[in-house]
Amino acid sequence: FTDVNDDLTEILITEEQIRSRLAELCREIERDYAGKDVLLIGVLKGAVMVMADLARELKLPITMDWMAVSSYGSGTASSGVVRILKDLDTDLSGKTVLIVEDIIDSGLTLSWLLANLRSRGPESIEICTLLRKPEAARVDIDVKYVGFEIPNQFVVGYGLDYAEKYRNLRGVGILAPAVYS
Ligand code: PRP
Ligand code: MN
Ligand code: MG
Repeated sequence: FTDVNDDLTEILITEEQIRSRLAELCREIERDYAGKDVLLIGVLKGAVMVMADLARELKLPITMDWMAVSSYGSGTASSGVVRILKDLDTDLSGKTVLIVEDIIDSGLTLSWLLANLRSRGPESIEICTLLRKPEAARVDIDVKYVGFEIPNQFVVGYGLDYAEKYRNLRGVGILAPAVYS
């Protein structure tokens, strides 16, 4: 990771591991959605990298749309109260939707988003996330495609940020506590 190596305690998932796992997930998605036009919905900003790589690896006719949401509340942690910063351009009625996320942490953001998108009448809606932290879950969400289950530590890279930095790292690393304490 060149110049930011000192900010990481460990490289958790390499670029190559991500590439190979996304390819496996794409083969599953291709089987599950054969003959369908799938609308991929990326959740800005974290999902940009996984969306870009997943979409290019998928041998299916897809379209892409994006949502930007913000969780706000008293603390630093996600409150589950979500505000839409940028809504979809697409009408979801009758659509086959696959939400693309970088990480499910508490699950509060996605739980809210799922309810919001379901109310718009899609034919189906499923979730694909690169990372999930089972120990951090505060709500139970049914996630169809999970790249990697990871421990409850602060990770950055491949779209994931700390204070907007590190999104451009090619793999996922554990941020050194000294960086954020
Ligand atoms: C991060 C991440 C997920 C969400 C997961 O986004 O990209 O979207 O938090 O957290 P949760 O499961 O606890 O709700 P963030 O709000 O940091 O915005 P970003 O994608 O722009 O970094
Ligand atoms: Mn996000
Ligand atoms: Mg973030």
